Amino acid sequence: MKVAIVTGSSSGIGYALCNLLSKKGIKVYGISRTISENENVINISGDVTKADDIKKIFASIYEKEGRIDYLINNAGMGISGSVEATSLEDFESIFNVNLKGTFITSKEILPYMRKNNSGKIVNIGSVASEFSIPFQTFYSSSKAAIKAFSEALNNEVSPYGISVCTILPGDVKTNFTKSRKTNENELEAYEKRVSKSIGLMAKDEQNGMDVQYVSKVIYKTINKKRMPIQKTIGFKYKVFIFLKRFLPTKVVNKLVGAIYAFKKER
Ligand SMILES: NC(=O)c1ccc[n+]([C@@H]2O[C@H](COP(=O)([O-])OP(=O)(O)OC[C@H]3O[C@@H](n4cnc5c(N)ncnc54)[C@H](OP(=O)(O)O)[C@@H]3O)[C@@H](O)[C@H]2O)c1
Repeated sequence: MKVAIVTGSSSGIGYALCNLLSKKGIKVYGISRTISENENVINISGDVTKADDIKKIFASIYEKEGRIDYLINNAGMGISGSVEATSLEDFESIFNVNLKGTFITSKEILPYMRKNNSGKIVNIGSVASEFSIPFQTFYSSSKAAIKAFSEALNNEVSPYGISVCTILPGDVKTNFTKSRKTNENELEAYEKRVSKSIGLMAKDEQNGMDVQYVSKVIYKTINKKRMPIQKTIGFKYKVFIFLKRFLPTKVVNKLVGAIYAFKKER
């Protein structure tokens, strides 16, 4: 029986993916800080930013199973607001969960995957890495960093039978919208623009794809003999990314600004 570890398993995409993988006959270990009551999954309480805890959790899973076929780095968080009003603490927390968490779990899984000369690591990025979103600057940056990390890691580990893929979902309806942290002390100069921008983003997310569809695409991707290096989820987002190739960066940036930056009110 194949074995998967999914981080961020207590809600949204991670929760749905755990259920689907389990239905497909994969033994699933889910890791998140709060334990979910998902009976199809072996739920373990863990924080991806804590290297010692992750090391122990992975060691115990490998000792029991003798294999770990898939690692899905899905745990993630968002912050919003102007760069000028972002606290160092919030900056550190988003990079801690989204990038450092992905680094820690990947680093700790690799000895086991190398030992078995096989394994697939899937990192959940975002379309927001392709189109840097104003007032979600650090979310976009952290997801762009994940993409760069995945691409480089793939070349490091492919000689050991391991492959790495970044999944780029577009808007998905989950608790992510509600959990996104906004700047506590937003500056008056930005306040209205931030609120319009985040309001629009929240609306797009809540009208977004459902988690069942997103998990199906992730399952199909990991089930492929050769995973792609990158997989976008959602037809319109695939079209946007395709068109981006033919447009100057300045034009793309202007278009994103026209949607999400909003003009200063006079
Ligand atoms: N929703 C979207 O529109 C969208 C679009 C593109 C990409 N994504 C990405 O998809 C992934 C899943 O997000 P979602 O939409 O399903 O959001 P969600 O419902 O808020 O789920 C986030 C999950 O991450 C876990 N998590 C957060 N910090 C953690 C930590 N330090 N250690 C372990 N687990 C942690 C949360 O569990 P606990 O709080 O219990 O730890 C939760 O299970 C994220 O990486 C997100 O950036 C989402």
